Amino acid sequence: MVPVPEVAGRVFGDGLGQAVQFAEMLERYGVQRGLIGPREVERLWDRHLLNSAVIGEQIGDGVRVIDVGSGAGFPGVPLAIARPDLDLVLVEPMARRADWLNEVAESIKLDVTVVRGRAEEKALRERVGAADVVTSRAVAPLARLAGWCLPLVREGGMMLAVKGASARDEVARDAKAVARVGGGAPTVSECGVGVLETPTTVVRVERVRSARRPRRAG
Ligand SMILES: C[S@@+](CC[C@H](N)C(=O)[O-])C[C@H]1O[C@@H](n2cnc3c(N)ncnc32)[C@H](O)[C@@H]1O
Repeated sequence: MVPVPEVAGRVFGDGLGQAVQFAEMLERYGVQRGLIGPREVERLWDRHLLNSAVIGEQIGDGVRVIDVGSGAGFPGVPLAIARPDLDLVLVEPMARRADWLNEVAESIKLDVTVVRGRAEEKALRERVGAADVVTSRAVAPLARLAGWCLPLVREGGMMLAVKGASARDEVARDAKAVARVGGGAPTVSECGVGVLETPTTVVRVERVRSARRPRRAG
């Protein structure tokens, strides 16, 4: 088993046991079920579990969160473990990944709702409703992601996209497109500073209004 880093206790608190169980499930079945690449097993804690959980720093108490494109469970599952006060919905279109997420929730006794569907679909939007915060990681470039996520954010709420080194370039490239779908100016910040060796880079966009309607000609 991959050793549990000391900092995990600080990040997950009372949820550490659930985090360990989730890591063990991924270690045992993740590669075989095509959920993670073989190289990810060694770095499950720092690159995935801890990196995901620390984004909770930017989320208020007891709010509703929708995680779009959860895949193997990131960032939604570690976030739900570290922050049991949140009401978390995991959205995932692929059946085998949605099945996995349900299995994880049942095995580690995690109180989340798994919904199968694509974030941009009307039926999905009607089903999940609006949230205070919509999270995502590695789902789409910022402009497209904003078009999918902001309609799920209540006015005054925000989307939080975990991004890598591309974050600032994406913001510079896509800020206008984000504004067209109702987003405020995107900002880039780090979560887990002073806790993780490599903090998590997050792009934050507030939903300021509904998407702009295209102007009619004439
Ligand atoms: C590269 S994986 C990332 C998975 C996970 N967020 C992570 O960081 O490990 C992208 C995920 O987004 C999902 N996805 C793709 N298009 C989507 C859409 N339109 N709505 C919701 N999820 C989507 C895919 O099925 C896949 O699970």
